[in-house]
Amino acid sequence: MNDSKVLALKYRPKNFNELVGQEAVARTLKYSLQSDSLANAYLFSGLRGSGKTSSARIFAKTLLCETAPTSLPCEECESCQMANRGSHIDIIEMDAASNRKIDDIRDLIEQTQYQPSIGRFKIFIIDEVHMLTKEAFNALLKTLEEPPSYVKFILATTDPLKLPQTILSRTQHFSFKRIDKHLVAQHLKDILHRENIEFDDESIETISRSGGGSLRDTLTTLQQAIVYCGNSLDIGSVTEMLGLVDPQTLENVLSLVLSKKREELIEAIKSISSYDSEMVLDEFINLLKQKLFSSDIEPNTLQKMFEAVNSGKRLLFTGADSEFVLYLTFLKMISDDIVTKVVEVQQVQKSEAQPQKMVVPADGSDKSFFWNSVIPEVIISNPLSSKITDEILQKCMESHIEFIDFNGRDISLQFCFRDNESCKKVLRARYGTIQAVSIQQFNKRSGKKSQLKYLECEEVKREFQPDKPIELGGVQTEKVEEVSMDQFIESLKETFGSDKIVEKPR
Ligand SMILES: Nc1ncnc2c1ncn2[C@@H]1O[C@H](COP(=O)(O)OP(=O)(O)OP(=O)(O)O)[C@@H](O)[C@H]1O
Ligand SMILES: [Mg+2]
Ligand SMILES: [Zn+2]
Repeated sequence: MNDSKVLALKYRPKNFNELVGQEAVARTLKYSLQSDSLANAYLFSGLRGSGKTSSARIFAKTLLCETAPTSLPCEECESCQMANRGSHIDIIEMDAASNRKIDDIRDLIEQTQYQPSIGRFKIFIIDEVHMLTKEAFNALLKTLEEPPSYVKFILATTDPLKLPQTILSRTQHFSFKRIDKHLVAQHLKDILHRENIEFDDESIETISRSGGGSLRDTLTTLQQAIVYCGNSLDIGSVTEMLGLVDPQTLENVLSLVLSKKREELIEAIKSISSYDSEMVLDEFINLLKQKLFSSDIEPNTLQKMFEAVNSGKRLLFTGADSEFVLYLTFLKMISDDIVTKVVEVQQVQKSEAQPQKMVVPADGSDKSFFWNSVIPEVIISNPLSSKITDEILQKCMESHIEFIDFNGRDISLQFCFRDNESCKKVLRARYGTIQAVSIQQFNKRSGKKSQLKYLECEEVKREFQPDKPIELGGVQTEKVEEVSMDQFIESLKETFGSDKIVEKPR
């Protein structure tokens, strides 16, 4: 950049033709300026950084231009020049965020008593007007309704719902839109050309998206990117700077999903699991949107993926473990494979159930059988993250699951979390696996169809039934869930769709 001025200020629009993405507002304001049909008070509302303050200044400058009435200020007359320098004596700007009291408004009303010094009008711009106190609003009302003929008010706010109805009904209201990202991208490109900075289209696309329709936010990011990348913006550095996942990595995830390469997919997700999950899912949605028009992926497949991502985002919203959600979301996309495999394994093991072949631990008890054959299996099939190491998982299982009893048919396990939040999360994410593996192993062992009973201790029950009195003392366990193989398969069907589960005849 050839000077150090902040881009957002350097490229503040000077007239309504330069205002980006607010055509409706610009057209109406230009028309009223040109025809000199003016209201007493205007209200500009809308998203932060979308052009409200800029428009208020343009409107004021154009009204006071010596060539007025016009919709395009001349930029040459003394009035335009003073306005551009921000030193026009008849344009009074007040920031209501820092002058919110009744006394501030009284001062302002006092100033409306005096004629303009050089122009036709005296223009009061009250920015962030929603910050005024109730008393200040009331003090403003009368003047707003019947100001001296030379006074114009322009109020600006991001939050018009906070304004009293009395104020709203006394102003002409213009609402500023979120700026379309194609227009934002075009604007960024124009600026970069003028600044002699090279770029690739992808980095512009990414920066435009990051601003969420606010041009100021986008320009601030652009400026950071220029500092970060030097005189040439490239997508690699831009994504790194924004903490986004490299698009190439997401492309890779997508192709692994499509080719249903589960193991590699898990590895790929592991490599992005340190990023913010919501952001990863948002970026993935963007990738899917691009694919809708540019590739041969079936729309049905895309829709399925969209749904998986959206339900992942909903889970995040409920506060679910974010890394778990990331794995779940992508693995769900290839779920027909996963589920078929799980069920097949179980069915094969069932039909080959040969208890005598099982390695029964030395002391022969069900308890040590559980610890020796269920827990290690759960750990091996632990499909989730690198953060949850085998050790953590083992510790959590050992300290929070208690094997109670196996009577030849019912396996009773007690889950007791006390106050350990992190183990609760770890285990909750693996309930399904613990359940499936326990049933498999005990089925194998007994040659019968086993059922699982979860027992939960007082602490856990208390959490789920907060208004029930807690009975202390004694072994207060209670059956909360009972799951048979049929029920388990039913629940798989419910989760993944019944057409995805191929049940073999038993
Ligand atoms: N519609 C737009 N067209 C061109 N530039 C814009 C537009 N909106 C914002 N900008 C850029 O962002 C900067 C800030 O805009 P402005 O102060 O007008 O936003 P605002 O809507 O008043 O924001 P806030 O709600 O935060 O006060 C401008 O200097 C300009 O560079
Ligand atoms: Mg503003
Ligand atoms: Zn002028």
